[in-house]
Amino acid sequence: MSKKIVAPYPNLRLRRLRQSSSVRELFQETHVHPHDLIYPIFIRESDDEPYISTMPGIQRYAVDALPKEVEAAYSLGIRAILLFPKTPNSLKTDDAKEAFNPKNLICQAIRKIKASVPDMLVLTDVALDPYTSHGHDGFVKNGKIENDRTIEALVKQVLNQVEAGADGICPSDLMDGRIQAIRQTLEAKNHPDVLLISYAIKYASVLYGPFRTGVGANLQGDKKTYQINPANVNESLRSIQQNIMEGADAIIIKPGITSLDIIAKAQDFGAPIWAYQVSGEYAMIKYAAQHNALDEEKTFYEMLLSLKRAGAGKIITYAAKEIAQRLHSSS
Ligand code: PBG
Repeated sequence: MSKKIVAPYPNLRLRRLRQSSSVRELFQETHVHPHDLIYPIFIRESDDEPYISTMPGIQRYAVDALPKEVEAAYSLGIRAILLFPKTPNSLKTDDAKEAFNPKNLICQAIRKIKASVPDMLVLTDVALDPYTSHGHDGFVKNGKIENDRTIEALVKQVLNQVEAGADGICPSDLMDGRIQAIRQTLEAKNHPDVLLISYAIKYASVLYGPFRTGVGANLQGDKKTYQINPANVNESLRSIQQNIMEGADAIIIKPGITSLDIIAKAQDFGAPIWAYQVSGEYAMIKYAAQHNALDEEKTFYEMLLSLKRAGAGKIITYAAKEIAQRLHSSS
């Protein structure tokens, strides 16, 4: 514990710091700014369904509709988006070959966005699950996920997305050694500026359920042999340390609100730590608000503020536009 001095009452009256909104603002320690928010966007084929039954207020965008949505986010102060494609079932295979197609949905989206809103940073998720018939992030052999063979595919997936113009890539698959393999390949292929933002901590969580509907995943089984057991602190910190050593520029921790302790502990490494307020967190707030149990905007704001207070530098949130808008109207 630090040796901070707290004077006894009445030398110190802490309520003095809370007496009016101006005083509270003067003493506010943590802030949420639109630049802190990263906006995830689902993409669909033009003839696919926009509506996502599990995530009220979120839709999938056809590639042609992206410039308008991305421009709107940019004008609200959002500087990075994270793309998730919903691959048609007919293109999902056991070898995930659609991931390497230079004309696949995500590559079309990256090109479209970089051509229309070039200053918006385009981040992409790296994992094979949008492309595998079984919905796992890696190749499956005899019921097991094949780590090293999956890494070779992830590296190809990364190059495909980078060659389409992605500014940063976010591996979410949790294979051992993938950050090192990706960083080495980016160096070897002359892409030294590509941001590598690793999900070093991705807990095997129920809170990804609404997202899986969003991307149309037909997951067979669970992801517990690669995503981290939410009971583990030491293992989580070792994963962060290893990912930084392997070449990650920043670390993502998810889910957000259930990981505040880990976000706080991760500050010791000195690397940028980001949080992801995942689909389940979003859905809980939205559904509670729809039933008038919670005020939606205030709940989002308080959750995002708490993530920042714990130490999250940036937050990926489906409510990014909504909150950025609120921040503009209240300032
Ligand atoms: C896929 C991926 C998932 C999420 C982000 N990337 C789902 C999963 O691992 O099954 C979840 C995000 C969310 O719930 O908002 N690798």
